[in-house]
Amino acid sequence: MATRVSPMPLVAANWKMNPNDAGDALDLVRGVLSVARGHADRVEVAIFPPFPWLLGVSEVIAESGVKLGAQDCFWELSGAYTGEVSPAMLKGWCEWVITGHSERRIYLGETDEMVAKKTASALGSELSVIMCVGELADHYDAGTSDQVVEAQVRAGLANCSADDSARLVIAYEPVWAIGTGKSADAEHAYKTMRLIRRVVGELIGAGAARKVRILYGGSVNSGNVESYVELPLCDGVLVGSASLDAAEFAHIVKVTAEVYGHR
Ligand code: 13P
Repeated sequence: MATRVSPMPLVAANWKMNPNDAGDALDLVRGVLSVARGHADRVEVAIFPPFPWLLGVSEVIAESGVKLGAQDCFWELSGAYTGEVSPAMLKGWCEWVITGHSERRIYLGETDEMVAKKTASALGSELSVIMCVGELADHYDAGTSDQVVEAQVRAGLANCSADDSARLVIAYEPVWAIGTGKSADAEHAYKTMRLIRRVVGELIGAGAARKVRILYGGSVNSGNVESYVELPLCDGVLVGSASLDAAEFAHIVKVTAEVYGHR
């Protein structure tokens, strides 16, 4: 087996707007802690709880090696922006933030331009960023996935440079695969991740692009995770529903550690 040259794989848990109870949030993170800690030398694990649970979760994971992230941020660092949370507020106790998730694009009307501003602002505040891209079912059916994903990557990285590469992750999440149980087949995921890698290379240079990690997301579970993480271009997974089940998420971390340990 060839030695893996790309950075450590990332397994990220996007809890979305769950759970409703603070105690349940802490139980959930405690449930994945021992497995995540046991594989910390081979897999980076990052948890993205809703804003109100960030502080409590940060206390549980302190010193464990498990990373914390927010599911969104605003692009300005402070000011009269009611309801928004700035990268400057997250910095210090969150290492990560997600930008451009399709649920924000769809339900809150986030545009590529907004995603670009958020991504650049978070990177400028020394946060690491998972920027999400992915086509709708209509695009997939029409065979235009590549054009849509390429446009999202180009627009979203409009304000980024090679200096950001080590803290930049792009998650390919086909919208039709999110929360549907209809995960993308590995070949489609591979081809799209290859396209993303090429486009990132054109934007920030091939050398820097190699440091950018590319994840797959969309109905990932313990049964299908191997088919993604064994893809040569895949640097990990962004997990939604399955991350709300501690045993299931721990299994995803374990499988990822095993696959990358053999590369
Ligand atoms: P599911 O794993 O529930 O499909 O969600 C994926 C996702 O949107 C992660 O950001």
